[in-house]
Amino acid sequence: MTIGRRTLAALLGLTLLFSFGLAWSGQRQIQRVNILMPAPFADATAELVQRFNRDHRGSIALRVTRGPRDTESISDLAISSLLLGSPPFDALLMDVTWLAKYAAAGWLEPLDSYFEPQEIDALVAGARLGNHYDGVLYRWPLIADVGLLYWRKDLMEAPPRTPDQLSSVGRRLMDDGAVNSGFVWQGRQYEGLSCDFVEMLSAFGGNWLNPQTGEPSLNSSEALEAVGWMRSLIRDGISPKAVTNYSESESLQAFKAGDAALMRNWPYAWAELQKPDSAVRGQVGVTLMVHNAGHQPAATLGSWGLSLLKGSDHPQAVIEAIRFLTSPEAQRERFRNQGYTPTDRSLFRDPEMLELSPILPDLEQALTHAVPRPPTPLYAQLSDVLQRQLSGVLTDDLAVDQAMNKAQINSMTIVEAAGGAS
Ligand code: GLC
Repeated sequence: MTIGRRTLAALLGLTLLFSFGLAWSGQRQIQRVNILMPAPFADATAELVQRFNRDHRGSIALRVTRGPRDTESISDLAISSLLLGSPPFDALLMDVTWLAKYAAAGWLEPLDSYFEPQEIDALVAGARLGNHYDGVLYRWPLIADVGLLYWRKDLMEAPPRTPDQLSSVGRRLMDDGAVNSGFVWQGRQYEGLSCDFVEMLSAFGGNWLNPQTGEPSLNSSEALEAVGWMRSLIRDGISPKAVTNYSESESLQAFKAGDAALMRNWPYAWAELQKPDSAVRGQVGVTLMVHNAGHQPAATLGSWGLSLLKGSDHPQAVIEAIRFLTSPEAQRERFRNQGYTPTDRSLFRDPEMLELSPILPDLEQALTHAVPRPPTPLYAQLSDVLQRQLSGVLTDDLAVDQAMNKAQINSMTIVEAAGGAS
């Protein structure tokens, strides 16, 4: 049987139409999800993204955009794209301090309809904090995070408990020639300094905001004492002058090289200290920050979580990606590979996880002492004025009381301009 020319042309036409239609509908079916993350988290997520994309071939294509490392820089980037309207992202990995501002600005989609209350109950204590604003859930935690004091088990019987003990053990170990520095921490003018300050302020019984009035309380006698102690660490040489330029990574490098007896850092540092190139491998313990008698030890609440942006074309696909990236399996992997703290309570008791790291019980305990930074939309401005004055004191130009009075006045101006403390 021969096929006439016309029939052939018609058949060809049909085939073309059909395949074009398929490709077209195929393209429409693929839902593209773009999540902005700070560089270290984007790197830690790369393999998981590949796996997600393999499992969702033809339906969802997940892409993680690698943003700057520092919390301030990536928030600035996110905010500028949000202010321009229709941002290229469907979701953001958000620091705990961003939430109030983003939620109040109306940039985030409520997540209450996507997550069950039992799922929130299954989170470890500290991971349940900092995800809600005005009672609405806007962020689902990817990692838990709290400030810790790292100490050298080979140099001390037990870690110091009070600020005075910390200074004296640091001094003694330096005098003995065991270390170059007693204590390294985050003294650079950036968000890490505010995090360290929260812990040191609590050590002396102070609060950033007055718990009764909600107003800044930066020139209280407790705050002056705390800042005086921070300065004495540098003046007395227990912390190197260079600490005023240290962020988390510089402190970690110094401690990992065996240069310091004590370090303030986040839990991820522990995994790095166990690597073969670490001079202190197997010799490090973690505990809560020092504090004076009669006051609670504080561990600054960190943590990063995923938020769905308003206006995303396919929220269900975004939620599927969020669920995968925050699943117990993903938590295990991030803990194993990067030392990021899990968020599910059950993983803190898991034999395989405990074998990977003996500090899990210490982390769980520290999470119960988590102290948040002020959860207000004004946080970025308040932290900025505080950091400026603290840095002024630490680099030795400013007197403690003058600097903290200025921090107080400038903070009050910010709060009053926004209509008062809420
Ligand atoms: C950690 C914390 C985050 C904090 C930042 C400061 O990433 O999780 O909350 O703002 O450090 O450097």
